[in-house]
Amino acid sequence: MSIISVVKKLLVLFFILLLPYQDSLSQEEVNIYTSRHYDSDIKIYEEFENRTGIKVNYITGKGNALFERIKSEGKNCPADIFITVDAGNLWKVEKEGYFQKIKSDKIAKLLDKRFIGPDAKWIGIAKRFRVIVYNSDKFDKNKMQNISYEDLASNDFKNKIAIRSSSNIYNQSLIASLIYHNGESKTKKWLKGFVSNFSRKPQGNDRAQVMAVAYGEADLAIVNHYYLGIMLSGKSGEKQKSAAEKILVAFPNTNNRGVHVNISGAGILKNSKNYNNAVKYIEFLLEEDIQKHIISNTYEYPIIDTVEPSPVIKRLGSNYKEDKLKVKELGINNPKAVRLMDRAGWK
Ligand SMILES: [Fe+2]
Repeated sequence: MSIISVVKKLLVLFFILLLPYQDSLSQEEVNIYTSRHYDSDIKIYEEFENRTGIKVNYITGKGNALFERIKSEGKNCPADIFITVDAGNLWKVEKEGYFQKIKSDKIAKLLDKRFIGPDAKWIGIAKRFRVIVYNSDKFDKNKMQNISYEDLASNDFKNKIAIRSSSNIYNQSLIASLIYHNGESKTKKWLKGFVSNFSRKPQGNDRAQVMAVAYGEADLAIVNHYYLGIMLSGKSGEKQKSAAEKILVAFPNTNNRGVHVNISGAGILKNSKNYNNAVKYIEFLLEEDIQKHIISNTYEYPIIDTVEPSPVIKRLGSNYKEDKLKVKELGINNPKAVRLMDRAGWK
């Protein structure tokens, strides 16, 4: 047998042996664990596959449950990217060492630094404001345009405020921002007055607070703005739509630092096996058309200034200023916030 025919036979044997693995060799992929479960996200995955040829595999679930899964799967965790809501949550994942740096000049150029976590281990993909909703029969509209979170500890709001429990990360992040701006001892004092103004024991989610204001159980509530978008859109039913139409929205602290801004965001997991694809996917989420798609379905604010909020959200008003706090501070100040909320008796 000549050398050439031996080489030929070996090559044939090599390709036969390789055959079962051909799929995984040729198919680039990225694996996502996401706490966003919008049907509309499927379009984003498809669009990414069309543009890059990289297949997107995804698992949806509650943020905390997915993080527990990531921890228990350890090195075998197939996920490259974890997407969840609230800088407080992203900060916890980072602090426990599960994220790695997202190396991308594109992101560094495109994104305001306040939306990038420490060492670029997570970034914001959309913004959410924690706003005040109120009964227009109970308050003067002009006064409400100038309201601040700080005002809500005053006697004027006795038995008027509805809000969800202190175990909720949105509230913890809001208090973390107050601690950052006003210090611990002032916030402690403020919390005492604020909690004593609750109209009822904290209960329900943000939408339940809007319902409480619309149907007279409270005069005012604090909620994430996008729930109003969901309710006004009619997607959550007629009852919620008419409730959201009854109430008015105030963006607090317009006269000073601005409304509390939080994010939903993404990070690349430390055991990612498709790092480059993960970077590409996160960059893709910041493309203008993808931002438009995200916010027209979630009613969040775009994280990129060149994209307009959805028309439903524009209806909430444009008389606001954004708190320019770096969102990592919401994580850094989270343990203090939890302690102070607990001590104030916020259930
Ligand atoms: Fe939410």
